[in-house]
Amino acid sequence: MGSQGMDIRVEPIADSGPVQLPEPLGFGRVFTRRMFSQRWDSARGWHDATIGPYRPITLDPAAQILHSGQAIFEGTKAYVRPDGRFNLFRPDANALRFNRSAERIAMPQLPVASFIEAIEALVRLEHAWAPRGEGASLYIRPVMIATEATFEVRAAREFLHYVVLSPAGPYFASGFQPVGVLVAEEHIRAARGGTGAAKTPGNYAASLAAIEGARANGYQQVLWLDAVERRFVEEAGAMNVAFVYEGREIVTPGLSGSILAGITRDSILRLAPDLGFGVRETRLDIDTVVADVAAGRITEAFCMGTAAVVVPIGRIGHRGRDHAIGDGGAGPVVQRLYGALTDIQYGRAADAYGWTRTIDVPTEGRAAA
Ligand SMILES: Cc1ncc(COP(=O)(O)O)c(C=O)c1O
Repeated sequence: MGSQGMDIRVEPIADSGPVQLPEPLGFGRVFTRRMFSQRWDSARGWHDATIGPYRPITLDPAAQILHSGQAIFEGTKAYVRPDGRFNLFRPDANALRFNRSAERIAMPQLPVASFIEAIEALVRLEHAWAPRGEGASLYIRPVMIATEATFEVRAAREFLHYVVLSPAGPYFASGFQPVGVLVAEEHIRAARGGTGAAKTPGNYAASLAAIEGARANGYQQVLWLDAVERRFVEEAGAMNVAFVYEGREIVTPGLSGSILAGITRDSILRLAPDLGFGVRETRLDIDTVVADVAAGRITEAFCMGTAAVVVPIGRIGHRGRDHAIGDGGAGPVVQRLYGALTDIQYGRAADAYGWTRTIDVPTEGRAAA
């Protein structure tokens, strides 16, 4: 199957009746009936590529994922185009980041073609689960975990790669809702030389206490500062962050070594100049940011990531004070970027960047959303 000849065995599934999507779909709570999986060991490399029923994974209680946390994952989406075919958005970029993450966590590389082929084969079989409509998509989650049973602290010699799919509704069911972000003063997410630039679960575990703290204080996200000086803005929650100066320049922290290189971030940095905006990657001191917000030089701020595309930031909490950005609503730059990027993702506009990969899917039996 496929040009690389990855031999994917397709197992039957017990339940193949019509797809019923719950309303509202939400994000990451519903999973389709099939999953892709394959295994790796040092003798055979990648083998046993299978698409079978979505089911629990059986692990030895000593499996290294459970002790050393040797795991990586990705997040990307399939979008239903107006012509009924599906678009993947820059899956090669996800494949390359998966391999960069794998290298950092001492896991085996996965050929880019196999990463994409596993996704495409699964999406074709599960196409009926893709919701249509503004902001809806089929979220794709590739994962790799260490399955070897040992308490030794060393790279495992056995791994499982799997892919699961989750139909996702619009991130904001009723239009843009700006979020409040609380600057993390006690915790840091990642340090340079650590794993912040890799998509590995430990980074997310390290962020949870701060996220809960922000929520308890009425904010939706954490604004992370650098680990050394506790001064420079890094990311917002599990998204990249940018500030709009004077309504025309988009300024975002440069990739410091502890920031995850977001594919949405990269896309916006490439798209924005073609929409007439300036872009700048630099170090952003939180005190300067707060002063520029107060002076009205920063007119908008937003988070960027695959799940929500762009999320306006309405206010920043810092040292016990709340700073509203602009009028606290979704500004014109955020709306313009959202429109331009999603038009490409959904195939409503021509893709001048070669970002989308269109796949044919059968047209019958599709779910209503
Ligand atoms: C920590 C972190 N930063 C940024 C992003 C945004 O990356 P992307 O735009 O590739 O989804 C993500 C999501 O993957 C993330 O987990």
